[in-house]
Amino acid sequence: MTSLSTEHLTAIAPSDFSRLRALIEDRCGIQLPESKRPMVEARLRKRLLHLGLSSFPEYWRLLFDPAHQATELVPLTDTLTTNKTDFLREPAHFALLEQTVLPALYAAGIGRRTPLRVWSAAASTGEEPYTLAMVLSQWGRSQRSFDFSILGTDISTRVLARAREGTYDEAAIAPLSESWRRAYLLRARLDSAPAPFRIAPELRARVRFGQLNLMDADYALPYRCHIIFCRNVMIYFNRPTQAEVTRKLTENLVPGGYLFVGHSESLQSLDLPLAALAPSAYQWGTLRPGCEEAAGAKP
Ligand SMILES: C[S@@+](CC[C@H](N)C(=O)[O-])C[C@H]1O[C@@H](n2cnc3c(N)ncnc32)[C@H](O)[C@@H]1O
Repeated sequence: MTSLSTEHLTAIAPSDFSRLRALIEDRCGIQLPESKRPMVEARLRKRLLHLGLSSFPEYWRLLFDPAHQATELVPLTDTLTTNKTDFLREPAHFALLEQTVLPALYAAGIGRRTPLRVWSAAASTGEEPYTLAMVLSQWGRSQRSFDFSILGTDISTRVLARAREGTYDEAAIAPLSESWRRAYLLRARLDSAPAPFRIAPELRARVRFGQLNLMDADYALPYRCHIIFCRNVMIYFNRPTQAEVTRKLTENLVPGGYLFVGHSESLQSLDLPLAALAPSAYQWGTLRPGCEEAAGAKP
């Protein structure tokens, strides 16, 4: 147990804040405007405490030392990113999936002759990919056969560890109906457990997780997806980065595939080859019966 306190730490010097901003924007795409300075300072103080460091200059020496930077960038990103998410967040997207997107894909043979592939590209602690798994499972019950898989990725290893575990507390599962709780959640044996609900194993088996930075030059997915959710992350990026990330996401869609972004992240002004299906929901190109062959591998 450390006896260090962060009370005595002074503010981050303006030149150091500028260097930090440049590093985070370059590596993660995330903009840290001056208004975020109090949040950055408060969170970094905790990181310093954890490392047993007693001043920001000591931390900058570590962070900008080429020998340590790669290692420190992961926890630094974890410290500074915002991971807010919910089950069934922005529910209009899931209604659009059930009513329009899934029937169209299924009619083209996707989910029947080849598994439907979905990617949640800023998955945070897992609520979004598990919501997708619930919606798809529910929809699949009324079809003769329906197969799907979901990939959840995020830059943050901390949130990915929680997503893989798939345990949630009472407050987190509040948006889920009683019947969905019965169908898709298990109760932990101990009532006193901090997170007493766990995603049922059949659903967890449909979802796998991996680390992926949307700033990477190439996302290197082994296949193209039919549906990509990339919600509530591009809001932190500047316009050129949003355009570049969207271009790379569409490269990972099959022709006729669907891209969902957050409700406040319109792509309309980006001049990209995407047709708006509904606010913040887009389709890239035209779905062709038989396009499922293209889903197996990237050309
Ligand atoms: C606010 S959460 C959104 C979660 C979910 N998509 C939703 O809408 O509820 C944003 C997530 O984006 C992740 N993130 C931030 N920058 C990223 C990047 N460059 N690459 C991948 N993920 C990133 C964060 O770690 C965080 O978990």
